[in-house]
Amino acid sequence: MNHDATHQNPATGWWTEAVIYQIYPRSFADSDGDGIGDLPGITARLGHLAELGVDAVWLSPFYPSPQADAGYDVADYRDVEPLFGTLADADDLIAKAHANGLRVIVDLVPNHTSAAHAWFQAALAAGPGSAERERYIFREGRGPGGAEPPNDWQSVFGGPAWTRVPDGQWYLHLFDTAQPDLNWDNPEVPAEFLDVLRFWLDRGVDGFRVDVAHGLIKQADLADWQEPQEILSGQEADKPRPPMWDQDGVHEVYREWRRLLDGYPGERILVAEAWVEPAERLVRYVRPDEMHQAFNFEYLLAAWTAPAQYAVITRSLEATDSVGAPTTWVLSNHDVVRHASRLGLPIGKPRRNGIGVGDEQPDAATGLRRARAATLLMLALPGSAYLYQGEELGLPEHTTLPDAARQDPTWERSGHTQRGRDGCRVPIPWEADAPSYGFGPTDASWLPQPPVWAEYALDRQRGVPGSTYELYREALRLRRAYGLGRGTLEWLASGDEVLSFRNGDLVVFTNFGAAAAPVPEGEVVHSSGPLNEDGSVPTDVTVWVEV
Ligand code: NOJ
Ligand code: MG
Repeated sequence: MNHDATHQNPATGWWTEAVIYQIYPRSFADSDGDGIGDLPGITARLGHLAELGVDAVWLSPFYPSPQADAGYDVADYRDVEPLFGTLADADDLIAKAHANGLRVIVDLVPNHTSAAHAWFQAALAAGPGSAERERYIFREGRGPGGAEPPNDWQSVFGGPAWTRVPDGQWYLHLFDTAQPDLNWDNPEVPAEFLDVLRFWLDRGVDGFRVDVAHGLIKQADLADWQEPQEILSGQEADKPRPPMWDQDGVHEVYREWRRLLDGYPGERILVAEAWVEPAERLVRYVRPDEMHQAFNFEYLLAAWTAPAQYAVITRSLEATDSVGAPTTWVLSNHDVVRHASRLGLPIGKPRRNGIGVGDEQPDAATGLRRARAATLLMLALPGSAYLYQGEELGLPEHTTLPDAARQDPTWERSGHTQRGRDGCRVPIPWEADAPSYGFGPTDASWLPQPPVWAEYALDRQRGVPGSTYELYREALRLRRAYGLGRGTLEWLASGDEVLSFRNGDLVVFTNFGAAAAPVPEGEVVHSSGPLNEDGSVPTDVTVWVEV
């Protein structure tokens, strides 16, 4: 099948083609040996990111927090958690990142605070009917004595989405009990967040990744939902939209934020973490006067087959084109099974989170092979791409983590039915023979690192031809040289077995089929794995060919 339709990326600006590297501060680099990564640890390793060749970093939350959800429970939006350092360390990190040519995006968590936040503590103390309670979503219960939760919503982490306080009222938390949802219909809340945005903009950050961007506004009647709670707001035409996700009111919030950001010099950006389908609904978050980007989770979740990849790429480009925004691409993050393992599971049986000892185990070799092919395919697509720390090493998920070590609240809240996301959050390996594989100066590591980490350590891969690290580095160099991020996509082949498209002077070809496939004519400039002796492309390999 041939397509003559070409895709053109209409927006301009650094972010339209940027490769953005996600740092999970707890697990990147530990400077003080307490087993928890920290800001000085990150600053000391910025050279790695400059060498790798990314354009920006996004840091998961590092604010004061009881760490009930690894920092996505923020107790103070204008400071740094002592485990991670100080405000001065944050300033230093931002300055040194800029000096290394890297932009810095920080995480903003506006859907909920920590229960330890001063506002929530005041709300508990002030009691029913108070202005303090109006900043959150407190309600009377149902049934005799109000002993039943106000509605049937479930928490994304499992269990009811409501917790009762001693005076009898209930508060809503779409996530953990320690993460009460804010009431965005109360003008104090948007005003507070405008001020938080200013605080970090004034410190020089280049943008914000907005947590649960589709959740801020709830349907006013808090109607029962009767469905299992998913973070993904799938919206089939014949089904109503879930009352807790993707309500129209959220867009007003982002329009206001955009106006604020546009008043700052240097193209600061907003990135939506919005689990919204279909793509036509998602792209409403990136209309010209709203956010700049939204994560493309439909792409992340797509099966590893030529037709599925063709469909999701085409749909993504068409949807973002319809609003004039660039497309984004992502394969891994701190909430899903790392793609080097996810793609090693039987096709059509993906797992978004949680693989335990007793579960079907991914095939490591197949997973890595496909992950490398998928990454080379992704990095050749026009638009912006997100990488998650460690994927440049080909790191797998830790799929045999002892249950006793688990920290993700999902594990407890789901009554031990969902293993949660710890397996993708294990501290990453830098040096094969150092304590904690170079994560920190001691053996301490907040999640145990598996012995296989030695093989994946950066120092075992740096300068080694064919290593995953060198594969990424060369891909990022060529992506820049060929202008792929700001390029155009023209499909050349989209069969059941192979996918091929042209982007500028490059033809990209992935073989998904069981049999070897002929390599496109031209000079092979990069490849996710060795070609066959006769020059053909083996199964699960992507090649870049200059024409
Ligand atoms: C999405 C974040 O990525 C995830 O880690 C977190 O648990 C939830 N939002 C709640 O903040
Ligand atoms: Mg530390």
